[in-house]
Amino acid sequence: MRGIGIIGKIAFQEVKMEAKLMSERVHLYASVDWTRRLFDALIPLPDGTSYNAYLVKGSEKTALIDTTDPSKAAELLEALNEVPAVDYLISNHAEQDHSGTIPKILAKYPKAKLICSTKAKDMLLALLDIPEDRIITVEDGETLSLGDRTFEFIYTPWVHWPETICTYLREEQILFSCDLFGSHLATSSTFVPDEGHTLRCAKRYYAEIMMPFHALIQKHLEKLSPYKIKMIAPSHGPVYNRPELILDAYKEWVSGPPRNLVIIPYISMHHSTLDMVNRLVDDLSAKGIMVQPFDMTCTDIGELAIQLVDAATIILGTPIMHGNAHPIMGYAARLAGTLKPKALFAAFLVSYGWGIGAVDRLPELITGLKVEGLNNVVVHGLPRPADLEAVDKLADLIESKHKALGLK
Ligand code: FEO
Repeated sequence: MRGIGIIGKIAFQEVKMEAKLMSERVHLYASVDWTRRLFDALIPLPDGTSYNAYLVKGSEKTALIDTTDPSKAAELLEALNEVPAVDYLISNHAEQDHSGTIPKILAKYPKAKLICSTKAKDMLLALLDIPEDRIITVEDGETLSLGDRTFEFIYTPWVHWPETICTYLREEQILFSCDLFGSHLATSSTFVPDEGHTLRCAKRYYAEIMMPFHALIQKHLEKLSPYKIKMIAPSHGPVYNRPELILDAYKEWVSGPPRNLVIIPYISMHHSTLDMVNRLVDDLSAKGIMVQPFDMTCTDIGELAIQLVDAATIILGTPIMHGNAHPIMGYAARLAGTLKPKALFAAFLVSYGWGIGAVDRLPELITGLKVEGLNNVVVHGLPRPADLEAVDKLADLIESKHKALGLK
């Protein structure tokens, strides 16, 4: 912390960003956002986040990789006062949490050139006020020399926009991966401070940001596998100085089989749906199948997303409201479809009062999921013994499906 700022009669401390040493030539400039609680106006951030820029000094040239969110521009600009010259500003990703301060960095260093992928150029010109003649585009595999340090640019589209690239520093074997391998985790530590907690944050991040592109990420992991990597330096969260931690986790999340896990997002207004949910939870628990219900009136959707990474079966519980699924369940179902999890099976537990409504069209809510539909249970009013027996049969069916695939 440093300095005292004054607004009216109120004095406040200003945050100072410290350059953190990763190696003799590489520094992390992390804008730590301790209090941000929502990203993209959608994603909860219980652990805050950071926007990381990296400075690499070669024997002849100096480069800055990515910038920071515009809300943190002043911190980064002040921290860079100790850096007399930046020759190259590398943009791995055009989203504004990393690119938003590019115009101010280019103004601070009038001779600096902006390096980006061919696709990023149009996006950066559209999103920001940047003179086109400051931009140099690079192709996949192209290199850039800083003298005794060399960058290689690796095209990795759709992590998380179509223009994204990773930048590899050959001599130090550091991969600057931007959103890929990131975590929404505010920390004062340069490197992973707690592997378990960091991995949990990274899994939440993967589920919300990366999972929709898991097929492409699998190809990117294969593309990156020949590279020797000593550190992975993402643009959110701490640096991995034991890269296997996140590489192995990504391999499992992206291409491992689903687990013997059922998740049940549900809404219940007068307990009818909840009775069925509770019965199914009891049934599956008794069979040794992992099960996790989520009351969607109070669920952190990040926790739901984390479980979607592994779940083999999704059961959605909803009352019929004005002839359709409860609106919150409609949102949850569409979200699950958007995230494209590896789930294989799905079904609905439905209750209705005076009209069955569009119950036959409920599966349309999950057309984004590539799942086999199991038997829905639809109940008029309070679930009776026969209805709960139908829930028992659904549990039996789930068990047989999971066993047939040998899920663990
Ligand atoms: Fe962290 Fe897609 O921006």
